[in-house]
Amino acid sequence: MSVQLGDIAPDFTQESTDGPIRFHEFLGDSWGVLFSHPKDYTPVCTTELGEVARLKGEFDKRNVKVVGLSVDPLADHKGWVKDIEETQGVALNFPLLADADRSVSSLYGMIHPNADDTFTVRSVFVVGPDKRVKLTLTYPASTGRDFNELLRVIDSLQLTAKYKVATPVNWRNGQDCIIVPAVKDEEADKAFPKGYRKVKPYLRYTPQPNH
Ligand code: BEZ
Repeated sequence: MSVQLGDIAPDFTQESTDGPIRFHEFLGDSWGVLFSHPKDYTPVCTTELGEVARLKGEFDKRNVKVVGLSVDPLADHKGWVKDIEETQGVALNFPLLADADRSVSSLYGMIHPNADDTFTVRSVFVVGPDKRVKLTLTYPASTGRDFNELLRVIDSLQLTAKYKVATPVNWRNGQDCIIVPAVKDEEADKAFPKGYRKVKPYLRYTPQPNH
């Protein structure tokens, strides 16, 4: 059974480059991103981990703790992080799980045997402060992810967790949002003091409430 949106993110304890990680305890009251990459000492993964390290300040601003994972042993991680620093110009500044026994990757369904029966695919799980899964993404080994898109989605998840809005296509932080259909016009008048624009009864735009 795969891990689905709304599920409690399975808890685990696993070795990492920062020592053993107990996932739920590690997250505390923060948001979390758990992401897998296929293999150490591979080119796309090297660029991805460098980029996540470069964006660490952006994750911190959003109160998000990031954890990476592959099924490689800790000794490989420790050697490879030197290459990441050398080639990407940034030191690894988040923990990388060494899931050599595949316990975490099995728990989260990160190995897709019909794609590759040995290595994890590029999975992403965003976990809320309530430990529930808010977003899942799955990319193949051949396609590096856009971690700015992940930040954009986290902005939307954090906004929509707090206000009765949804975010439209290609939305960026600061742009107009959509009032959810469950909110009646009378309620919207009070809940959205900046006002709203009614294009259709079900399509109402309002300025981003917290911007
Ligand atoms: C890479 O990270 O470059 C990679 C890893 C596994 C398969 C293909 C590419």
